[in-house]
Amino acid sequence: MRTDPPPEVVPAGVPGRTKAERVQAMFARIVPRYDAMNTIMTFGLHRRWRRTAARLAEPRGAVALDVGSGTGDLALDLARAGARRVIGVDFCEEMLTVARAKARDASLDGRVGFAVGDALRLPFPDGSFDRVVNGFLLRNVADLAGALTEMARVLKPGGRLVCLEITHPPAAVAPLANLYFGSVVPILGAAITGEADAYRYLPASLAPLPNIQHLARMLAEAGFVEVRARRLGLGTVALHLGVRRG
Ligand SMILES: C[S@@+](CC[C@H](N)C(=O)[O-])C[C@H]1O[C@@H](n2cnc3c(N)ncnc32)[C@H](O)[C@@H]1O
Repeated sequence: MRTDPPPEVVPAGVPGRTKAERVQAMFARIVPRYDAMNTIMTFGLHRRWRRTAARLAEPRGAVALDVGSGTGDLALDLARAGARRVIGVDFCEEMLTVARAKARDASLDGRVGFAVGDALRLPFPDGSFDRVVNGFLLRNVADLAGALTEMARVLKPGGRLVCLEITHPPAAVAPLANLYFGSVVPILGAAITGEADAYRYLPASLAPLPNIQHLARMLAEAGFVEVRARRLGLGTVALHLGVRRG
Protein backbone atom coordinates (compact mmCIF):
# COMPACT_ATOMS: atom_id res chain seq x y z
CA MET A 1 0.00 0.00 0.00
CA ARG A 2 1.38 3.44 -0.91
CA THR A 3 1.09 6.23 1.61
CA ASP A 4 1.25 9.93 0.77
CA PRO A 5 4.44 11.67 1.87
CA PRO A 6 3.93 13.71 5.07
CA PRO A 7 3.28 17.43 4.50
CA GLU A 8 6.42 19.55 4.40
CA VAL A 9 7.07 21.69 7.50
CA VAL A 10 8.87 24.98 6.81
CA PRO A 11 9.99 27.78 9.14
CA ALA A 12 7.56 30.73 9.33
CA GLY A 13 8.45 34.42 9.51
CA VAL A 14 11.50 34.23 7.24
CA PRO A 15 11.81 34.92 3.51
CA GLY A 16 12.29 32.14 0.96
CA ARG A 17 10.45 30.21 -1.74
CA THR A 18 11.66 26.75 -0.70
CA LYS A 19 12.20 24.92 2.57
CA ALA A 20 15.97 25.15 2.02
CA GLU A 21 15.89 28.94 1.58
CA ARG A 22 13.74 29.39 4.66
CA VAL A 23 15.83 27.06 6.83
CA GLN A 24 18.97 28.90 5.75
CA ALA A 25 17.40 32.29 6.54
CA MET A 26 16.17 31.05 9.92
CA PHE A 27 19.60 29.83 11.04
CA ALA A 28 21.22 33.06 9.77
CA ARG A 29 18.87 34.93 12.11
CA ILE A 30 19.22 32.81 15.24
CA VAL A 31 22.98 32.23 15.01
CA PRO A 32 24.01 34.86 17.63
CA ARG A 33 22.09 32.99 20.35
CA TYR A 34 22.03 29.47 18.82
CA ASP A 35 24.59 27.87 21.15
CA ALA A 36 23.23 29.60 24.28
CA MET A 37 19.69 28.53 23.45
CA ASN A 38 20.82 24.91 22.97
CA THR A 39 22.51 24.96 26.36
CA ILE A 40 19.45 26.36 28.12
CA MET A 41 16.93 24.22 26.25
CA THR A 42 18.80 20.92 26.85
CA PHE A 43 20.11 21.76 30.36
CA GLY A 44 23.61 21.57 28.85
CA LEU A 45 23.14 17.98 27.64
CA HIS A 46 23.59 18.82 23.93
CA ARG A 47 27.37 18.86 24.40
CA ARG A 48 27.37 15.37 25.90
CA TRP A 49 25.12 14.07 23.08
CA ARG A 50 27.54 15.36 20.43
CA ARG A 51 30.53 13.85 22.25
CA THR A 52 28.69 10.50 22.37
CA ALA A 53 27.96 10.78 18.63
CA ALA A 54 31.61 11.59 17.89
CA ARG A 55 32.84 8.59 19.91
CA LEU A 56 30.33 6.29 18.19
CA ALA A 57 31.83 7.31 14.85
CA GLU A 58 35.22 5.90 16.02
CA PRO A 59 37.05 8.70 14.21
CA ARG A 60 40.65 8.00 15.32
CA GLY A 61 42.91 8.58 12.31
CA ALA A 62 39.93 9.08 9.99
CA VAL A 63 39.02 11.70 7.42
CA ALA A 64 35.56 12.80 8.53
CA LEU A 65 32.71 14.96 7.25
CA ASP A 66 30.14 16.72 9.46
CA VAL A 67 27.06 17.58 7.38
CA GLY A 68 24.95 20.54 8.55
CA SER A 69 27.84 21.46 10.80
CA GLY A 70 26.30 24.75 11.98
CA THR A 71 28.43 26.35 14.69
CA GLY A 72 30.85 23.42 14.42
CA ASP A 73 30.74 21.64 17.77
CA LEU A 74 30.34 18.11 16.38
CA ALA A 75 33.19 18.69 13.90
CA LEU A 76 35.41 19.84 16.77
CA ASP A 77 34.38 16.83 18.88
CA LEU A 78 35.44 14.52 16.02
CA ALA A 79 38.87 16.16 15.94
CA ARG A 80 39.19 15.92 19.73
CA ALA A 81 38.28 12.23 19.47
CA GLY A 82 41.25 11.72 17.16
CA ALA A 83 40.08 12.34 13.58
CA ARG A 84 43.03 13.12 11.30
CA ARG A 85 41.05 15.67 9.26
CA VAL A 86 37.48 17.00 9.61
CA ILE A 87 35.42 19.06 7.19
CA GLY A 88 32.18 20.66 8.31
CA VAL A 89 29.71 21.55 5.56
CA ASP A 90 26.69 23.81 5.93
CA PHE A 91 24.64 25.97 3.58
CA CYS A 92 24.40 28.78 6.15
CA GLU A 93 27.51 30.94 5.91
CA GLU A 94 26.62 32.82 9.12
CA MET A 95 26.66 29.58 11.16
CA LEU A 96 30.03 28.64 9.66
CA THR A 97 31.51 32.03 10.64
CA VAL A 98 30.97 31.03 14.29
CA ALA A 99 32.33 27.52 13.60
CA ARG A 100 35.53 28.89 12.04
CA ALA A 101 36.13 31.17 15.04
CA LYS A 102 35.72 28.20 17.42
CA ALA A 103 38.12 26.09 15.35
CA ARG A 104 40.74 28.87 15.48
CA ASP A 105 40.43 29.00 19.29
CA ALA A 106 40.47 25.23 19.76
CA SER A 107 44.16 24.56 18.94
CA LEU A 108 43.42 21.45 16.92
CA ASP A 109 46.45 21.84 14.64
CA GLY A 110 44.37 23.08 11.73
CA ARG A 111 42.72 19.64 11.46
CA VAL A 112 39.21 21.14 11.14
CA GLY A 113 37.96 23.20 8.19
CA PHE A 114 34.53 24.40 7.07
CA ALA A 115 32.97 24.82 3.64
CA VAL A 116 29.65 26.09 2.35
CA GLY A 117 27.70 23.28 0.72
CA ASP A 118 24.31 21.62 0.41
CA ALA A 119 23.60 18.28 2.10
CA LEU A 120 21.63 17.28 -1.00
CA ARG A 121 24.58 17.94 -3.36
CA LEU A 122 27.72 17.46 -1.31
CA PRO A 123 30.72 19.07 -3.06
CA PHE A 124 32.93 15.95 -2.82
CA PRO A 125 33.68 12.98 -5.09
CA ASP A 126 32.34 9.49 -4.30
CA GLY A 127 34.10 7.69 -1.44
CA SER A 128 35.94 10.76 -0.08
CA PHE A 129 35.44 10.09 3.64
CA ASP A 130 36.03 7.36 6.25
CA ARG A 131 33.32 8.84 8.50
CA VAL A 132 30.23 11.00 7.99
CA VAL A 133 28.21 12.46 10.86
CA ASN A 134 25.33 14.89 11.25
CA GLY A 135 23.80 16.56 14.29
CA PHE A 136 20.22 17.89 14.30
CA LEU A 137 20.24 18.13 10.50
CA LEU A 138 17.77 15.52 9.30
CA ARG A 139 14.54 17.39 10.23
CA ASN A 140 15.76 20.34 8.24
CA VAL A 141 16.44 18.82 4.84
CA ALA A 142 13.80 18.97 2.13
CA ASP A 143 14.60 15.42 0.93
CA LEU A 144 15.62 13.05 3.74
CA ALA A 145 16.13 9.97 1.53
CA GLY A 146 18.19 12.11 -0.87
CA ALA A 147 20.39 13.40 1.96
CA LEU A 148 21.05 9.86 3.27
CA THR A 149 21.91 8.64 -0.25
CA GLU A 150 24.27 11.57 -0.71
CA MET A 151 26.03 10.78 2.59
CA ALA A 152 26.39 7.15 1.49
CA ARG A 153 27.87 8.33 -1.82
CA VAL A 154 30.70 10.34 -0.21
CA LEU A 155 31.53 7.58 2.32
CA LYS A 156 34.07 4.88 1.49
CA PRO A 157 32.71 1.31 1.55
CA GLY A 158 32.97 0.14 5.18
CA GLY A 159 32.87 3.76 6.43
CA ARG A 160 30.61 4.74 9.34
CA LEU A 161 27.67 7.13 9.36
CA VAL A 162 26.37 8.55 12.65
CA CYS A 163 23.14 10.57 12.78
CA LEU A 164 22.15 12.52 15.92
CA GLU A 165 18.65 13.99 15.87
CA ILE A 166 15.65 14.61 18.09
CA THR A 167 13.05 11.87 17.80
CA HIS A 168 9.50 10.96 18.72
CA PRO A 169 9.58 10.37 22.49
CA PRO A 170 8.49 7.06 24.04
CA ALA A 171 4.89 6.99 25.31
CA ALA A 172 5.92 7.31 28.97
CA VAL A 173 7.60 10.68 28.46
CA ALA A 174 5.56 11.95 25.47
CA PRO A 175 3.12 14.16 27.47
CA LEU A 176 5.97 15.91 29.28
CA ALA A 177 8.20 16.13 26.19
CA ASN A 178 5.36 17.48 24.04
CA LEU A 179 4.52 20.09 26.66
CA TYR A 180 8.18 21.08 26.98
CA PHE A 181 9.01 21.27 23.26
CA GLY A 182 5.56 22.49 22.18
CA SER A 183 5.02 25.22 24.77
CA VAL A 184 8.07 25.92 26.94
CA VAL A 185 10.75 25.91 24.19
CA PRO A 186 8.95 28.50 21.98
CA ILE A 187 8.60 30.83 24.99
CA LEU A 188 12.27 30.34 25.93
CA GLY A 189 13.27 30.78 22.26
CA ALA A 190 11.35 34.04 22.02
CA ALA A 191 12.90 35.34 25.24
CA ILE A 192 16.47 34.31 24.45
CA THR A 193 16.75 34.69 20.67
CA GLY A 194 13.80 36.98 19.89
CA GLU A 195 12.79 34.37 17.27
CA ALA A 196 9.68 32.56 18.54
CA ASP A 197 8.89 31.20 15.05
CA ALA A 198 12.22 29.35 14.88
CA TYR A 199 11.47 27.60 18.15
CA ARG A 200 7.92 26.78 17.08
CA TYR A 201 9.42 25.24 13.92
CA LEU A 202 11.67 23.00 16.07
CA PRO A 203 8.86 20.79 17.51
CA ALA A 204 6.78 21.13 14.32
CA SER A 205 9.65 19.81 12.20
CA LEU A 206 9.72 16.61 14.25
CA ALA A 207 6.19 15.61 13.16
CA PRO A 208 7.08 14.39 9.62
CA LEU A 209 10.41 12.86 10.67
CA PRO A 210 10.29 9.05 10.54
CA ASN A 211 10.42 7.24 13.87
CA ILE A 212 13.56 5.36 14.93
CA GLN A 213 12.65 2.08 13.21
CA HIS A 214 11.55 3.80 10.00
CA LEU A 215 14.72 5.91 9.89
CA ALA A 216 16.77 2.72 10.35
CA ARG A 217 14.97 1.21 7.33
CA MET A 218 15.69 4.35 5.31
CA LEU A 219 19.38 4.01 6.19
CA ALA A 220 19.33 0.42 4.94
CA GLU A 221 17.64 1.56 1.71
CA ALA A 222 20.31 4.27 1.28
CA GLY A 223 23.09 1.64 1.32
CA PHE A 224 23.93 1.10 5.00
CA VAL A 225 24.29 -2.21 6.84
CA GLU A 226 24.68 -3.09 10.53
CA VAL A 227 22.23 -0.27 11.29
CA ARG A 228 21.71 0.29 15.01
CA ALA A 229 19.92 2.98 17.01
CA ARG A 230 19.78 4.08 20.63
CA ARG A 231 17.97 6.78 22.53
CA LEU A 232 19.46 9.57 24.66
CA GLY A 233 17.94 12.41 26.68
CA LEU A 234 14.99 10.52 28.23
CA GLY A 235 14.32 9.06 24.80
CA THR A 236 13.84 12.43 23.07
CA VAL A 237 17.06 12.15 21.04
CA ALA A 238 18.18 9.30 18.75
CA LEU A 239 21.61 8.18 17.60
CA HIS A 240 21.69 6.05 14.47
CA LEU A 241 24.79 4.21 13.28
CA GLY A 242 25.22 2.59 9.89
CA VAL A 243 28.14 1.10 7.95
CA ARG A 244 28.43 1.84 4.23
CA ARG A 245 27.83 -1.36 2.29
CA GLY A 246 31.05 -2.65 0.66
C1 LIG B 1 19.89 22.52 14.07
S1 LIG B 1 21.33 23.03 13.21
C2 LIG B 1 22.53 21.87 13.75
C3 LIG B 1 23.93 22.40 13.71
C4 LIG B 1 24.98 21.51 14.31
N1 LIG B 1 25.12 20.28 13.57
C5 LIG B 1 24.72 21.21 15.76
O1 LIG B 1 24.84 20.04 16.16
O2 LIG B 1 24.43 22.15 16.52
C6 LIG B 1 21.03 22.47 11.55
C7 LIG B 1 22.07 22.96 10.59
O3 LIG B 1 21.88 22.29 9.35
C8 LIG B 1 22.05 23.22 8.31
N2 LIG B 1 21.34 22.71 7.14
C9 LIG B 1 20.02 22.46 7.01
N3 LIG B 1 19.74 21.97 5.80
C10 LIG B 1 20.91 21.92 5.12
C11 LIG B 1 21.28 21.51 3.83
N4 LIG B 1 20.37 21.07 2.94
N5 LIG B 1 22.57 21.61 3.46
C12 LIG B 1 23.51 22.07 4.33
N6 LIG B 1 23.22 22.48 5.58
C13 LIG B 1 21.94 22.40 5.98
C14 LIG B 1 21.52 24.54 8.85
O4 LIG B 1 22.03 25.64 8.16
C15 LIG B 1 21.99 24.46 10.31
O5 LIG B 1 23.26 25.06 10.47
